[in-house]
Amino acid sequence: MANTAIRTAVFPVAGRGTRFLPATKASPKEMLPIVDKPLIQYAVEEALAAGAHRLVFITGASKRAIEDHFDTDEALEKLLESQGKPELAQQVRSILPSYASCIYIRQPAPLGLGHAVLCARPAVGDEPFFVHLADDLIDAEVPCLKQMAATYLARGGSVLGVEEVPRRDTQKYGIVEVEPGEDVVSRIRSIVEKPRPEVAPSTLAVVGRYVLTPGIFAELERVGQGAGGEIQLTDGIALLLQREPVFAHRFVGRRFDCGSKLGYLQATVELSLAHPVLGKDFRSYLKRIAATLDGPA
Ligand code: UTP
Repeated sequence: MANTAIRTAVFPVAGRGTRFLPATKASPKEMLPIVDKPLIQYAVEEALAAGAHRLVFITGASKRAIEDHFDTDEALEKLLESQGKPELAQQVRSILPSYASCIYIRQPAPLGLGHAVLCARPAVGDEPFFVHLADDLIDAEVPCLKQMAATYLARGGSVLGVEEVPRRDTQKYGIVEVEPGEDVVSRIRSIVEKPRPEVAPSTLAVVGRYVLTPGIFAELERVGQGAGGEIQLTDGIALLLQREPVFAHRFVGRRFDCGSKLGYLQATVELSLAHPVLGKDFRSYLKRIAATLDGPA
């Protein structure tokens, strides 16, 4: 059991987003909107809902837009008020609650997710923390990080968000082997980055949600370059689980890989359908065009 509430969330946003070029050439993929909010805002809302209030962004080239998004913009608020749009002004004002604080740390070069997490060390200190990858959008009744924070408090040790994937896709993920017999939460025996389907130890994939103990920092300092010449978070976790328990948590919710174009489109459609204002009209529109889609794919 752990008795430390998690107050810090780390958002690595320094990747180059090559799968989404050319959209991500000059603007970060985390600023891509789903309906009317950028991915990074969904991420921050999830972390706040899980109890975090220190938000640490690991930024790289062309990430200014993220800082601007979470900064106050008095000129815009005044303009909206003067145009008689107080609800919009309020929406802009409440992007970040006053109790939350933002810290921006520059990753000098995109040396890998593990390196990005290591860059957060001075801001995190000697505490457990969340890591949230904003391009994995998870639609869930109970926010995914909140589910995982409960596991951390109950079990202690680091917790990785996991889900089953088709065997042909193991090369896209970190894959874990877990102790048998448990259901939602299992202790991890081993973890490997992007294994080929024929050698993958299971089809349980790590998604972009982590609760990590500060012990991860020492391990990340020890690991060298891994797959793709990058410092891999997976390799750091592989070392960590030799020293302390690390758990896999099968979260309840639906994940969209918004770093891929297809996943992004799926998220846009599903969240638009569920939108309280747009949903009804959008559903009618989809029904209308679905009728014209018959024929060979
Ligand atoms: P990805 O593996 O999705 O890489 O990174 P990417 O560069 O963002 O995107 P693609 O694959 O080229 O399209 C996973 C997460 O790790 C962050 C990314 O911003 C993303 O949130 N990351 C990755 C960093 O912050 N720094 C890095 O050096 C690498």
